[in-house]
Amino acid sequence: MQIIITGGGGFLGQKLAHALLHSSLSFSELLLVDIQEPQALADPRVRCLQADLTAPGVAESLISKHTAIVYHLAAIVSSHAEQDFDLGWRVNLDTTRSLLEACRQARPGIRFVFTSSLAVYGGPLPEVVDDGTALTPTSSYGAQKAMGELLVNDYSRKGYVDGLALRLPTICVRPGKPNRAASSFVSSIIREPLQGEQTTCPVSPALRLWLSSPATVVNNFLLAATLPRGDGRSINLPGISVTVGEMLDALTKAGGQAARDKVSFAHDPAIERIVASWPGQIDNSRALASGFMADWTFAGIIDSFMTHDLQEAS
Ligand SMILES: NC(=O)c1ccc[n+]([C@@H]2O[C@H](COP(=O)([O-])OP(=O)(O)OC[C@H]3O[C@@H](n4cnc5c(N)ncnc54)[C@H](O)[C@@H]3O)[C@@H](O)[C@H]2O)c1
Repeated sequence: MQIIITGGGGFLGQKLAHALLHSSLSFSELLLVDIQEPQALADPRVRCLQADLTAPGVAESLISKHTAIVYHLAAIVSSHAEQDFDLGWRVNLDTTRSLLEACRQARPGIRFVFTSSLAVYGGPLPEVVDDGTALTPTSSYGAQKAMGELLVNDYSRKGYVDGLALRLPTICVRPGKPNRAASSFVSSIIREPLQGEQTTCPVSPALRLWLSSPATVVNNFLLAATLPRGDGRSINLPGISVTVGEMLDALTKAGGQAARDKVSFAHDPAIERIVASWPGQIDNSRALASGFMADWTFAGIIDSFMTHDLQEAS
């Protein structure tokens, strides 16, 4: 039995690969596919493949009758998809369709886990979004993810795949360098100060965010491998609701005033427009009842970063 992770060289793809290798799931091969050579992992079950999923024939060449689960994580992130319209649609939508079609042709019923985003929501939203809230994306990235969800839903309805679309909270704290996601600052305002570096925050302290730690979202990915078919194919993953001001208070407690003083504010209306259009609070009753989890506190998220990722980085 084979598991495939597209975007297997990326941030969450690598964390998911580690988690799968240490999980109780039984599989003979874990195939990591990415346009950038995925980092090799010391386990004989792992195979790494550098490939551009938008190239003709690549999706079809990956999936076989031995494939049991596809985690489709490969994507062009939000600000990048906004800047490069054609690339965003090619990777975020066309590739999703090619992979679904390849699953259908290889063996109907493959578990297909698609990583969607809060960016499927936008504009004026209720204070608390729930599973019945209409999808109203206000960015190309959000539109691409919403259409990906519709594809997963329809291929599942026909029995071609057994699909799940997981709408991820903003993941924080992301180790490494800033990326081209509009939400990149969410990690930077914690990570950089704790590493002794200056950073700027482009949004107001009152902005409310819906967050998950990397470890929690990866645990939720593991659950998605075996979750029995439920009522809906699209699931808002649990998160915690925190304002930027509350995040900075937690930073002060964890790293002292010296860390807090490393963050200054420089308003960026383009970033604020995108991030403020996402929900800051979601009713997750259905996901929680299915066994998906949220972090307890933002202080706990910082603590987990300082224990695991900050030490790895230093
Ligand atoms: N991190 C978050 O806060 C967050 C929030 C919501 C949704 N998501 C979604 O979760 C998934 C993983 O996110 P991440 O943070 O690990 O992002 P990431 O950018 O680290 O990983 C995405 C990977 O996709 C690869 N990729 C891009 N184009 C490709 C192509 N043509 N062929 C093959 N590989 C290609 C990239 O090289 C990259 O390694 C994405 O689908 C993202 O949209 C992430």
